[in-house]
Amino acid sequence: MKTLSSKSVYICSKCDYRSSQWLGRCPHCGAWNTMEESTETRQTPSRTVGTTGEQATHAVPLDELVEDECKRTVTHISELDRVLGGGIVDGSVILLAGEPGIGKSTLLMQLCGTLGEEQKILYVSGEESRPQLKLRATRIGTIGKGILLLTETDLDTILNEFDRVKPDILIVDSVQTIFSSNSDSAPGSITQVRECAGALMQMAKTRGSSVILVGHVNKEGGIAGPKVLEHMVDAVLYFEGDRSSMHRILRSTKNRYGSTGEIGVFEMSSDGLREVTNPSAMLLAERPLGVSGSCAVCIMEGTRPILAEVQALVTPTSAPAPRRGANGIDYNRLYLLLAVLEKRLGLRFSVCDVYVNVIGGLRIDDVGADAAIALALISSIRDIVIPSDLIAIGEIGLAGEIRRVTSGSRRVSEAARLGFTSIALPKQSAAEKLPGGVSIIPLTGIYDALSLLADVK
Ligand code: TYD
Ligand code: MG
Repeated sequence: MKTLSSKSVYICSKCDYRSSQWLGRCPHCGAWNTMEESTETRQTPSRTVGTTGEQATHAVPLDELVEDECKRTVTHISELDRVLGGGIVDGSVILLAGEPGIGKSTLLMQLCGTLGEEQKILYVSGEESRPQLKLRATRIGTIGKGILLLTETDLDTILNEFDRVKPDILIVDSVQTIFSSNSDSAPGSITQVRECAGALMQMAKTRGSSVILVGHVNKEGGIAGPKVLEHMVDAVLYFEGDRSSMHRILRSTKNRYGSTGEIGVFEMSSDGLREVTNPSAMLLAERPLGVSGSCAVCIMEGTRPILAEVQALVTPTSAPAPRRGANGIDYNRLYLLLAVLEKRLGLRFSVCDVYVNVIGGLRIDDVGADAAIALALISSIRDIVIPSDLIAIGEIGLAGEIRRVTSGSRRVSEAARLGFTSIALPKQSAAEKLPGGVSIIPLTGIYDALSLLADVK
């Protein structure tokens, strides 16, 4: 027996903070105008009548539990499998989030192509018509065996069809377009997104189907949807990239069945997304030679080292507040590095405009990239070209010291594989066992980086 009660709450669409009254500014994340009204219907289970199911009623000793091997369906898209931790775990719920137009529907249609033969897939689209879906499928070469398409936005109709078809995998593109007639809120609002996703997940759990929900996010990463769903689902995959560039990166920010931090790299082509198995080579392919301000960088993405190019442009300015532009690296990190270089090396960045750009839409969070960014900045302000076979790895501290990085030897192997022969590494990392065939330049502080370039001239 269950009792129903309903109350109004205000939920921040950015951080999911809840309040019983409307507020202009969210006290948790500080965002303005993000509190949305939501009616919550609470189902309170009766205390006298227990819920059914053995799991819910008894606590069981952990050591008596038999390890239930989670069965995975390998998607045959190896970059996707890598991010998922080896495939889709049967019965799991995955959220695929990204900006509109980034390629979510394309990736899922390709998934239909690789899995359609083995699995029954129900693809629900609330955004596109059947001819549009067919056109995309033909364009990317998805034949369509085993795939059922449903162009529908009404939750009840979708649930009925789900129940009738009993698919192995349910794809909902996108969760913001689906609406439930039980709620008066508009499609895409927090209440609707939460209710629709909840109903779909519940149905999927009882049927043992896997669910992939597509969620749109805006540039700020907000808007009702993905953020409120993150804690409900088993895995969250973000599809990122600059729409103007062809590269796309799939990143997992939550994964109950695998590690986070792994990335998958794709390239958008005229016939769909192509996997990039050698991203370092691709990201370095168009590196200009003989120009100052360009330095190769090696970052770790999960267990995988990736090489990219970081570019800096430093130009004198007479403006009282010089400009700083950072694309692909954190602004604060750029300010910190500039302050360290100015203080410790006496380089006058404070009278220059500074722009830093990471090529290929890659976003660098790894502090191991500090040394390369610093070298690119020094190279640009001094107008000294960095040799094309040199790569710098290391974290820079406030005292100007260059600190040890994680996975030093893996980074060195990847750099060596791509033809780098001089590898500047923090002294401690250089003392580790490293692959041979390359010359290692130990760095203690940024003065070493400066003298590295001074030697070039
Ligand atoms: P789409 O998958 O519709 O994005 P999302 O579902 O994330 O909104 O794809 C978006 C873009 O990709 C679209 O602008 C066209 C482009 N595209 C290609 O370049 N090649 C292709 O083969 C396909 C299918 C799409
Ligand atoms: Mg789409």
